[in-house]
Amino acid sequence: MRRSIAELCGADHHGDPALLAAWLANKTPKVFAGWMRRADASYLVATERDAIAAVGAVTDSGEILLNYVSPDARFRGASSALLAGLEARAAGRGARQCTLISTETARRFYRARGYEEIGAPVRKFGMDSGFPMAKVLARPAALPGRAADV
Ligand SMILES: CC(C)(COP(=O)(O)OP(=O)(O)OC[C@H]1O[C@@H](n2cnc3c(N)ncnc32)[C@H](O)[C@@H]1OP(=O)(O)O)[C@@H](O)C(=O)NCCC(=O)NCCS
Repeated sequence: MRRSIAELCGADHHGDPALLAAWLANKTPKVFAGWMRRADASYLVATERDAIAAVGAVTDSGEILLNYVSPDARFRGASSALLAGLEARAAGRGARQCTLISTETARRFYRARGYEEIGAPVRKFGMDSGFPMAKVLARPAALPGRAADV
């Protein structure tokens, strides 16, 4: 996650050491472990052989909290697969839409996957490049043997 931000998100932090430091300040193993204790959120990873290629998190109400690909796995489908998994998890927990705040770096990626901008950019970690986006989710298919949901 730290490498993803530092190495891939230059369109957001522009290599500014102060902005990068602010963004990375809470991306520590200890803080991350605390986030993972949140009961209403799921943390998913995309793997490639034994390595984690991407990590993401979504709340049961559909807020995508994070979605970061390793620079070693960029543009090989990891984030696409992970995003589909996050959306499926949210839909499975009853969410009707997914929301997120995109980086400038990932804006095109989310647009290409059905996300629409839903408001003015927000300020995060000293940068004005947080883009609120949302996508309406398809309802999960009814499980075999269960009455159809009408
Ligand atoms: C942009 C990013 C999210 C794409 O993830 P990925 O795992 O590398 O991408 P995938 O292989 O799953 O999908 C490729 C998609 O990336 C996008 N993409 C391709 N080239 C790109 C480029 N030069 N810059 C930005 N996006 C690009 C396209 O939408 C492409 O999809 P398409 O081929 O259908 O057009 C990722 O590379 C990245 O930079 N992540 C940095 C962390 C970040 O910003 N996370 C989002 C936090 S909200």
